Amino acid sequence: MNIIELTKINKFFGKGDNRVHILKDIDLSVEKGDFVAIVGQSGSGKSTLMNIIGCLDVPTSGSYKISGTEAEKMDKDELAELRCRTFGFIFQRYNLLPTLKAHENAALPAIYLGLNAEDRNKRAEELLKSLDLGDRMNNKPNELSGGQQQRVSIARALMNGGEIILADEPTGALDSKSGENVMAVIKNLHKQGHTIILVTHDSKIAAQASRQIEIKDGQIISDVRKTSDIHEMKNKVEGIKRSKKDVIKYRFIESFNMSIHAIIANKMRSLLTMLGIIIGIASVVSVVALGNSSQEKIMEQISSMGTNTIQIMPGTGFGDMRSGKVKTLKVSDSDYLGKLSFIDSSTPNVSASGVLLYENNSLTAQLTGVGAEYFDVEGKKIAMGRIFTQEEADNIASVVVIDDNTRKQVFSNTPNPIGSIIMFNKKPLEIIGVLEKENSAGPMGDSITLRTPYTTAMYKINGSSDINSITVKVSDSVNSQVAEEGIEMVLTALHGKKDFFMINSDSIKQTIESTTNIMKLLIASIAVISLIVGGIGVMNIMLVSVTERTREIGIRMAIGAKQLDILQQFLIEAILICIVGGILGVVLALLIGLGFNTFSKTFGMDFSAASVILAMVSSTGIGIIFGFVPARNASNLNPIDALASE
Ligand SMILES: Nc1ncnc2c1ncn2[C@@H]1O[C@H](COP(=O)(O)OP(=O)(O)OP(=O)(O)O)[C@@H](O)[C@H]1O
Ligand SMILES: [Mg+2]
Repeated sequence: MNIIELTKINKFFGKGDNRVHILKDIDLSVEKGDFVAIVGQSGSGKSTLMNIIGCLDVPTSGSYKISGTEAEKMDKDELAELRCRTFGFIFQRYNLLPTLKAHENAALPAIYLGLNAEDRNKRAEELLKSLDLGDRMNNKPNELSGGQQQRVSIARALMNGGEIILADEPTGALDSKSGENVMAVIKNLHKQGHTIILVTHDSKIAAQASRQIEIKDGQIISDVRKTSDIHEMKNKVEGIKRSKKDVIKYRFIESFNMSIHAIIANKMRSLLTMLGIIIGIASVVSVVALGNSSQEKIMEQISSMGTNTIQIMPGTGFGDMRSGKVKTLKVSDSDYLGKLSFIDSSTPNVSASGVLLYENNSLTAQLTGVGAEYFDVEGKKIAMGRIFTQEEADNIASVVVIDDNTRKQVFSNTPNPIGSIIMFNKKPLEIIGVLEKENSAGPMGDSITLRTPYTTAMYKINGSSDINSITVKVSDSVNSQVAEEGIEMVLTALHGKKDFFMINSDSIKQTIESTTNIMKLLIASIAVISLIVGGIGVMNIMLVSVTERTREIGIRMAIGAKQLDILQQFLIEAILICIVGGILGVVLALLIGLGFNTFSKTFGMDFSAASVILAMVSSTGIGIIFGFVPARNASNLNPIDALASE
């Protein structure tokens, strides 16, 4: 039975004027179990014919049948499958992968069959032992002699069965002794039933075959059969059949291992490639963390101002340096505003700073004189005792509500400070209430603030009728912006000019929210840009890597790798680089955060799981997006072109 049948095969190379006719109407059939030698001068077209037989190249015209199936009708994967299972290549220059050990090189084709590592290594070792290489198993190609390398490549050709052995000048690079040795192995394979097609220009070697074909200028000029020595295949490799799932699994594992191999083999380059991703991810994660925590802090401080409240201050605005000294607001202003229909309540604020004395304790403290509604307006809750009443305010009562900080610092040994008398700027004040602990951290976090009726602050502490500001709570149904306009009109009319300014907590909140949203957008776009730059770096290196390893890709394809295997291998490499870069980036960000949080008390970095997950997802995405083009380039290479590259 003819295992190979070529009819009217023609092969042209080049285009236009450079077009050359290399194979001319070749008709050739090879029987199963035969040993055919193809001889001819250099440039006669032997290798070209061999490559067509081995499905590494396609003829320009003509028909090629393998075991009765037309090769032209097969797709790339089916051809790869043929190279993987049926053909075993032995090249003049061995074509071993330099980074792999002898047994790994021999086992390579079985990866593309989907064999697991254990079975693979067992078979590779058996083959190498049978080829007298039992003690060179763990050596890399550059540690082996030419003859030894060629025997490793024979082991590789036999790995998946090698029913048809295609040997292109297998002894061409060897001395006569090693050459004889290799020929003995090949003859032995023929005896075991392998179909052998051997290309040589050495007539002595060709004489050892059963059939001798001579090619000249792309044509068969003689075809001589010397012996009808045809053998049945003895040790047919049958057992190597796997479930589809296993095949996919083992091939994936192998692609993964090979990628790690490649990354480790080029440590410095991989690290530099990752650097773009590392810096991109680290800066995004830490900037987001910083933004989150500062936004939180700012919002906390704003909400401690209470909702729907408006502060009225003397002066023209925040920048007005005189505003602390200008005393244009009066208690009567506050009373007047309090009576307006759109205002719920209004309270004057008076502030004083001084020294708090209690027993042996002496502390710097802040005192705020406020109206009775203040606690309600500012949302302050009482933990012990009570707040003062309007009556007490009217009577200029010497009562004080202390905050949690004061209780902690002054009354640490007294469980209940209510009723105790403290001195503020030498004036006695009776404690009637303690406020709940506030969770607003930041610069005001541990200051000590006392609250007395504003009348007390004015007349008893400060000794003047000046007030510092007015806090107004707007009625629930009224828009704070509208209320602000109303207050402006009323107060301007009362004072005859606008000598005050207002802070509206709602509008500040909105401004800050919109500012932080713009900031977030800005950060996001910088992040996207930096990650794209990182991605381009990865893509660049992957393209270089594909170019560098074109020969390796060719070898892998010749021994049975499908396009998907090659695509997978390079894509995994790109993704791995990006993921490792992403992880290192997150770690770097966390380290920056750690440093930041230990050195800065007021602001911190607040890492969210979401930003870390997003970082990982985006680095994987970059790997996929920017790794795809190089990986696809690699997988689209033509096996014969890839093999021919240096
Ligand atoms: N990809 C190609 N593009 C253009 N010409 C090519 C290509 N490959 C081979 N050739 C030409 O085809 C002719 C046959 O080449 P081939 O490699 O088949 O020769 P050969 O018989 O194997 O020679 P040798 O004994 O030196 O190996 C040569 O003239 C070569 O220059
Ligand atoms: Mg050749």
